[in-house]
This record gives sequence, structure tokens and C-alpha cells, in this order.
Amino acid sequence: MRWLGWVFVMLAATHPCMQCHDDLWRPPVRHEVLEECDTCHEDQGDHTFPSLTDEDVLDICTTCHDVELRHPPEFGVCTDCHDPHATQEASLLLAAVPELCADCHDLETRSTTLSHPPYEEGDCTSCHAPHGSEYPAFLADAEPVICTDCHGEIEDALAAPVVHPPVKEQCTRCHRPHTADFPKLLKYFLSLRFYETYVPVRYWLCFRCHPVQKVFGPDSGFVQGEKNLHRVHVQRSRGRTCRVCHRPHASTQPGLLRDRIPFGPYWTIPLHVETTEQGKACAPACHQREVYGR
Ligand code: HEC
Ligand code: HEC
Ligand code: HEC
Ligand code: HEC
Ligand code: HEC
Ligand code: HEC
Ligand code: HEC
Ligand code: HEC
Ligand code: HEC
Ligand code: HEC
Repeated sequence: MRWLGWVFVMLAATHPCMQCHDDLWRPPVRHEVLEECDTCHEDQGDHTFPSLTDEDVLDICTTCHDVELRHPPEFGVCTDCHDPHATQEASLLLAAVPELCADCHDLETRSTTLSHPPYEEGDCTSCHAPHGSEYPAFLADAEPVICTDCHGEIEDALAAPVVHPPVKEQCTRCHRPHTADFPKLLKYFLSLRFYETYVPVRYWLCFRCHPVQKVFGPDSGFVQGEKNLHRVHVQRSRGRTCRVCHRPHASTQPGLLRDRIPFGPYWTIPLHVETTEQGKACAPACHQREVYGR
């Protein structure tokens, strides 16, 4: 397409405005309507042009482009992000994304292990619609679709019979989208180990929504008569963590229970939950068949 550049130079040389305003033409990405200066500038005689207000610019641009800016009014106008004439960047942007966004928004910095790859790579528009959208935070699509578009494995998991209610609504109830203080981009701490000495804050994420008293209290479904089995398993010096038995997103078994216990990196133990007339039972896993739930 180099010949196109030459055509432009030829046209520019013969354009009545070019001899004095050639700087507007030089950058490689040019607005297709650049030559038609008078679509945007009306000469009122003697080379006097009324200065364009933000409203004028919005009016002009939207006569040809079906773009609805949804940013708050003080936010402005197309030329905050686009050059009306020509630039170095694709889409006539004044700067490439994410530098463009960073002009107005502070970018969070984190180690790559605690950053989300699309954020770290500056791919802001994979989640945000730069012109705004009908969704919160100007997301390009609703949650959780915006997330499951890239995370197909989670979308598949959501087809399971038991889905954790918050997962259906918003992934960001539990995850941060940019950077996080905790592994797996979690908003609040959760121990991801197998054994853990019991301290409530190690299960902060879960206890935000499931009060401690309830999980370890008499109304839990994980009881044997008077005995709360969450206490038995969790509240000790070598207690089992929540993730030993539960999946966070969805499961094929009741109570979000896992079908395999992740005992080590290479070893999992199958867990099967039976529903009987006496209650439920965990068929052989870490121990003999035990009945619970009555
Ligand atoms: C003989 C040189 C010359 C020619 C030819 C010329 N201009 Fe200009 N133009 C200037 C100068 C000098 C200025 C003032 C400095 C500036 O803003 O760049 C100016 C300013 C402008 C401005 C800004 C006005 C403002 O108030 O911000 C516009 C718009 C403009 N010219 C459009 C045009 C268009 C359209 C043409 C072709 C029809 C044209 N000019 C041809 C020299 C020229
Ligand atoms: C698609 C609309 C559009 C076209 C076409 C257009 N301009 Fe502009 N021009 C603008 C807008 C909008 C501004 C104001 C920019 C700002 O304030 O950020 C501007 C500003 C200018 C200025 C002021 C200095 C500057 O760079 O901001 C000059 C000079 C100018 N235009 C010349 C021209 C000439 C010459 C042509 C034709 C070769 C032309 N423009 C074509 C929209 C256009
Ligand atoms: C007279 C019609 C017209 C006006 C007015 C106009 N444009 Fe354009 N613009 C076009 C055409 C035609 C194209 C090339 C085809 C396309 O990509 O839509 C284009 C392309 C663009 C592109 C690049 C699209 C891409 O993918 O590379 C941007 C950004 C843009 N215009 C922004 C603006 C802004 C900002 C204004 C107001 C300052 C404006 N346009 C005013 C007709 C116009
Ligand atoms: C906050 C910055 C920002 C503002 C303000 C803005 N744009 Fe854009 N625009 C972008 C970005 C970023 C892209 C590139 C999108 C991409 O590559 O996915 C873009 C792309 C475009 C395109 C290319 C086609 C498309 O829709 O992807 C057009 C045309 C366009 N903008 C026109 C406009 C018009 C007209 C206005 C004012 C009504 C405007 N923009 C305001 C950031 C902005
Ligand atoms: C010219 C300045 C400017 C640029 C450039 C800009 N923004 Fe904004 N943005 C704002 C302002 C002002 C607001 C509204 C006030 C606020 O919430 O901070 C806003 C709001 C937002 C919001 C919604 C905030 C909320 O709380 O709902 C998001 C998301 C956003 N911008 C993302 C982006 C992305 C992504 C880019 C780059 C493609 C970008 N912005 C470029 C100024 C800008
Ligand atoms: C993986 C999707 C994703 C990517 C990539 C992404 N964001 Fe966001 N962003 C979100 C979500 C979701 C929110 C809503 C905040 C929340 O619920 O925690 C948000 C919120 C925001 C906000 C408003 C709230 C705040 O944190 O200030 C801004 C501004 C913003 N993002 C800018 C950016 C910029 C700039 C980039 C690129 C460097 C980017 N985002 C990349 C998903 C994303
Ligand atoms: C109730 C809180 C919660 C919600 C809501 C949630 N997650 Fe998670 N997610 C977690 C926890 C806890 C982990 C860590 C699991 C582990 O390592 O055992 C995790 C891990 C992940 C992982 C890392 C891969 C893996 O399986 O370890 C991805 C990707 C993920 N979640 C995506 C999503 C998406 C997409 C959504 C929305 C559809 C979502 N999450 C909703 C709690 C949640
Ligand atoms: C543009 C693609 C893309 C989008 C959109 C996206 N992600 Fe990711 N995400 C990735 C990639 C790539 C990774 C790293 C590889 C992996 O773990 O799958 C990742 C990793 C993750 C992880 C695991 C982090 C870790 O430490 O292991 C979580 C949790 C996560 N994403 C949640 C989300 C949530 C929540 C959303 C929606 C707000 C989302 N993702 C949207 C591409 C995306
Ligand atoms: C954002 C709030 C929220 C967070 C965080 C959360 N949950 Fe839930 N969870 C719910 C809601 C709402 C329900 C459905 C009503 C109920 O049972 O309380 C639920 C139900 C459950 C159920 C019962 C599912 C069934 O079908 O019987 C289990 C088990 C569970 N959550 C475990 C966890 C674990 C483990 C964590 C931490 C990894 C966690 N939850 C974090 C909101 C949350
Ligand atoms: C030893 C396995 C095991 C561990 C460890 C475990 N749970 Fe459970 N949990 C269960 C079983 C079994 C049920 C009952 C499921 C059913 O039959 O519906 C249950 C039920 C639940 C429920 C549903 C409401 C209720 O009490 O019945 C929540 C919420 C819950 N667990 C949260 C947690 C949290 C938070 C942790 C970590 C602090 C945790 N669990 C650790 C096995 C476990």
C-alpha cells in the first residue's frame, strides 16, 4: 500500500491548504475525510475559522460516526482521544492503549504473579468499551460473559448441576480484574493449602458471605446430631481447608462438594456423596463411609 502514501503526498502538494498546514498530513494514519477540510472547518472569509466548542466537535463527528459517548459530561469529547486529522497510532488515537488510558487513569502496578495477564499486557479494550457502555465500569459485555469469553473452562463448569450463586452473577464478587493482593486474583484472602492451623482470617473470602457462627453452628448441613463436622475437620492445628472439600465455582455433587480431594500435586482421592434415608454419606475417601446431615 506504499503507493497510497505517494498519492497522498501528490494530493497534499496540490491541496489549497497544504502549503501552510502540511504538518497535519505527515503521520502515517490519516483520517479518510482529511482532504475535505470544509466538512469540519467553515471559512467565514479571509481565512477566519470560528473556534470549535466541544459540542461542535461532538456534532461534527457523530454526523458520520454512530458513536454514543457514555462517559460523564465533564469527560468530554472525541478529540480527547482521537486526532481529527492524522496520527502515528491506529484508529487515529492520540496515543496507543494503554498509554492513552494512563493519561487520565492511574494504572495499578503489581508483580506479574498477582496481575491479570490481559491487564498486565495493557489490553484494556478486551474488557472495557472505550466509548462507554450500558454496563458498570463501561464493560464491553455483562459479567460473567466478559470473563467466560476467555475462561471457557469456567463456562463449562457452570453447566454442572450445582453452581455457587455468586458465580452466576459477578465473578468480581471474589476476584479482582486488574491486580490483587492475594493469589488467584482473590479479593480477600483464602488459604489454598491442604492443611492449615485454624485462624478465621485464613478463610476470609468465604466468611465474608457465610458467617463463621453459621458454618460452625448447629444449623449447618454438615452435622452428626449435636456434632458440627466443620468444627471437627477445620478448627484444629492441622485442620482441612475449605477447598479440600468444596469447589468455589460449581460441582456435580451437592453442597459444592468435590468429586476428587486434591491430596497432593499428583494424587487425588475420589469422594462420592450418597443421599440415603438416614441423611447423606461420604463414601470412602479419607476414611470409612460416614453418615452426616441428621
Ligand atoms: C498562506 C498560508 C495558509 C494557507 C494557504 C492556509 N492557512 Fe490556515 N492558517 C494559517 C496560519 C498562519 C494560521 C494560524 C496559526 C495556526 O493556528 O496554525 C492558520 C490557522 C488555521 C486554522 C485554525 C484557526 C483557529 O482559530 O484555530 C484553521 C482551521 C485553518 N487555518 C484552516 C485552513 C484551511 C481549511 C485552509 C485551506 C482552505 C487553510 N487553512 C489554508 C496559514 C494558512
Ligand atoms: C473531521 C473533521 C476535520 C477535518 C476534515 C479537518 N479538521 Fe482541522 N480540526 C478539526 C478539529 C475538531 C480541530 C480542533 C482540534 C482540537 O481542538 O483539539 C481542528 C483543528 C485544526 C487546526 C488548528 C491547529 C490544530 O492542529 O489543532 C488547523 C490548522 C486545522 N484544523 C486545519 C485543517 C485543515 C487544513 C484541514 C484539511 C486539510 C482540516 N483541518 C481538516 C477537525 C477537522
Ligand atoms: C464526513 C464524514 C466524517 C466526519 C465528519 C468524521 N469522520 Fe471519522 N471517518 C470517516 C470515514 C469515511 C472514515 C473511514 C471509514 C471508517 O473507518 O469508518 C473515518 C474514520 C475514522 C476513524 C478511524 C477508524 C479506524 O478504524 O481506523 C476515527 C477514529 C474517526 N474517523 C474519528 C472521527 C472523529 C473524532 C471525528 C470528529 C472530529 C470524525 N471522525 C469525523 C468519516 C467522517
Ligand atoms: C476515552 C477515549 C475515547 C474517546 C473519548 C473517543 N474514542 Fe473513539 N476510540 C477509542 C479507542 C481506544 C478506540 C479503538 C478501539 C479498539 O481498538 O478496540 C476507538 C475507536 C474509534 C473508532 C473506530 C471504530 C470503532 O468504533 O472501533 C471510531 C470511528 C471512533 N473511535 C470514533 C469516535 C468518536 C466519533 C468519538 C466522539 C463521539 C470518540 N471516538 C471518542 C477511544 C476513544
Ligand atoms: C481524557 C481523559 C480520559 C481518557 C484518555 C480515558 N478516560 Fe476513562 N474516564 C475519564 C473520566 C473523567 C471518567 C469519569 C470519572 C471517573 O469515574 O473516574 C472515566 C471513566 C472511566 C471508567 C468508568 C469508571 C467507573 O467508576 O465506572 C472506565 C472503566 C474507564 N474510564 C476506562 C478507560 C479506558 C480503558 C481508557 C483507555 C481506552 C480510558 N478510560 C481513557 C477520563 C478518561
Ligand atoms: C479482565 C478484564 C479487564 C481488563 C483487561 C481491564 N479491566 Fe478495568 N475493570 C474491569 C472490571 C470488571 C472493573 C470493575 C471494577 C470491579 O468490579 O472491581 C474495572 C474497573 C476499571 C476502572 C474503574 C474503577 C477503578 O479501578 O478505578 C478503570 C478506570 C479501569 N478499569 C481501567 C482499566 C485500564 C486502563 C485497563 C488497561 C490497562 C483495564 N481497566 C483493563 C475489568 C478489566
Ligand atoms: C465465591 C467466590 C468466587 C467467585 C464468585 C468466582 N470465583 Fe473464581 N475462584 C475462586 C477461588 C476460591 C479460586 C481458587 C481455587 C483454588 O485454587 O482452589 C478461584 C479460581 C479461579 C481461576 C483460576 C483457575 C482455577 O480453577 O484455579 C479462574 C480462571 C477463575 N477463578 C475464574 C472465575 C470466573 C471467570 C468467575 C465468574 C464466572 C469466577 N471465577 C467466580 C472463587 C470464586
Ligand atoms: C482477554 C482474555 C481474558 C479475559 C477477558 C479475562 N481473563 Fe482472566 N485470565 C486470562 C489469562 C490469559 C490468564 C492466565 C492464564 C490462565 O490462568 O488461564 C487469566 C487468569 C485468570 C485467573 C487466575 C489467576 C491466577 O493467579 O492463577 C483468574 C482468577 C481470572 N483470570 C479471572 C478473570 C475474571 C474474573 C475475568 C472477568 C472480569 C477475566 N478473568 C477475564 C485472560 C482473560
Ligand atoms: C459473595 C458471597 C459469597 C462468597 C464470597 C462465598 N459464598 Fe458460598 N454461597 C453464597 C450464596 C448466596 C449461597 C446460596 C445461599 C446459601 O447457601 O447461603 C452460597 C452457597 C454455598 C454453599 C452451599 C451450596 C449448595 O448448593 O448447597 C457452599 C458449600 C458454599 N457456598 C461454600 C462457600 C465457600 C467454601 C466459600 C469460600 C471459597 C464461599 N462459599 C464463598 C455466597 C457466597
Ligand atoms: C471435610 C470436608 C469439609 C470441609 C473441610 C469444609 N466443608 Fe463445608 N461442607 C461440607 C459438607 C459435607 C457439607 C454439607 C453439604 C451438603 O450435604 O449439602 C458442607 C456444607 C457447607 C456449606 C453450606 C451450608 C451448611 O453449613 O450446610 C457452607 C456455606 C460451607 N460448607 C462452607 C465451608 C467453609 C467456609 C469451609 C472452610 C472454612 C468449609 N465449608 C470446609 C464439607 C466440608
